[in-house]
Amino acid sequence: MEIKSRALQELCYKEIDISDIEEIRLWKNSHSNYFFNSREISVKEQREWFSKIYLGDKNNFIFIIYYKNEKIGCIGFRISENAWDIYNVMNISSNFKGVGIMHTSLKELIEFIKMKKNIDFKAKVLNSNQNLSWYLKNNFKVIDKNNDYTNIKYFG
Ligand SMILES: CC(C)(COP(=O)(O)OP(=O)(O)OC[C@H]1O[C@@H](n2cnc3c(N)ncnc32)[C@H](O)[C@@H]1OP(=O)(O)O)[C@@H](O)C(=O)NCCC(=O)NCCS
Repeated sequence: MEIKSRALQELCYKEIDISDIEEIRLWKNSHSNYFFNSREISVKEQREWFSKIYLGDKNNFIFIIYYKNEKIGCIGFRISENAWDIYNVMNISSNFKGVGIMHTSLKELIEFIKMKKNIDFKAKVLNSNQNLSWYLKNNFKVIDKNNDYTNIKYFG
């Protein structure tokens, strides 16, 4: 599945396939302090996750973001407790960080996913992750907070 951005030429989103999972594993391992699973993910675990969990769930979508043919990062959506849970949000590009590509991608992908099922969009952000402020600038609001993480919801 490939979606072209309406906002920016040369920006597009492609759903992952098996050929992407090793790269995602490496990205995720290198950003592990931002995520719930801070353990190193092995090649075997990543393959099992892809075949059993990702492909087994028709409401689970991870998109790679491409700008000018460069892979910028990814954003995932899955349904949890009757809301879309936004996960695996990562910018791994050194050329296009902090220039609004992730902001545009998040907004456009939410609009796309909403057409599949129009329910709330939420995310969980570790309290140690300063990128909570990025979500708050992107129309998310804090719903509640526990010792480990903050629950946020999209009001776009
Ligand atoms: C969170 C993350 C995805 C943001 O990526 P990014 O490329 O910096 O995102 P953006 O370019 O959309 O926004 C970053 C900044 O650029 C600014 N910006 C610049 N041009 C912009 C534009 N045209 N439109 C919107 N924002 C723009 C934003 O205001 C924002 O400012 P801030 O740094 O003060 O927050 C990235 O930091 C990342 O991968 N972090 C590690 C993983 C992580 O924490 N993920 C979330 C886990 S829950």
